[in-house]
Amino acid sequence: MKKIQISPSILSADFSQLGNEIKRLEDAGADMIHVDVMDGHFVPNLTIGPPVIKALKKNSSIIFDVHLMISPVHKYIESFADAGADIITIHPEATEDLASSILKIKKFKKKVGISLNPETKIDVILKFLDQIDLILIMSVNPGFGGQKFMPEVLNKIKDLKKIQLENNLDFDIEIDGGINFDNYKEVIEAGANIIVSGTTIFKSNNGDIKKNIELLKSK
Ligand code: DX5
Ligand code: ZN
Repeated sequence: MKKIQISPSILSADFSQLGNEIKRLEDAGADMIHVDVMDGHFVPNLTIGPPVIKALKKNSSIIFDVHLMISPVHKYIESFADAGADIITIHPEATEDLASSILKIKKFKKKVGISLNPETKIDVILKFLDQIDLILIMSVNPGFGGQKFMPEVLNKIKDLKKIQLENNLDFDIEIDGGINFDNYKEVIEAGANIIVSGTTIFKSNNGDIKKNIELLKSK
């Protein structure tokens, strides 16, 4: 079984202190940092873009797990690669040609992530599975932190894990949206090995992020 890794979403961090917040997460045992990029078009919310990511990455050595909720995404891949994204995750609905967007991410030697919305079926990515490093399963409709986990995605994780084992594939399965201390165990049991969390890490236990990261890793 793959090691469980925690990717805190800085969407719930104090945006006036982003550099310090990332440092704090690194010290608290985060394995990577989940950066939610939203364009107010693909999703109904706006966040940050390449210049902010570049500035943050300059002062940090942790892996940047960049979740692009922007459309059309293809022409922006290079800017995010240049800014220092280590994993670039895109949604199939946000590109006209998924195959060429995957190739473009690879061209910049970045890890390829593909994200599936709650209603998006695994079929969309079946033929690309051997080229994908990470599959991000959305357990909320993307756009906002603090939403409620959708348990119906558990079957999708199980199906994906089964396909992975049957075909001897090695991608990571990441889960994003509404993860808390009551549901993290079932997503791990279903097959997820990277846990994204914003609200639970930043707001639970009076914002004790070290404790919250430890709790999400505990058996
Ligand atoms: C939602 C984002 C998530 C979000 C998770 O569109 O992709 O990464 O920040 O936040 P919580 O853990 O609060 O659901
Ligand atoms: Zn995300």
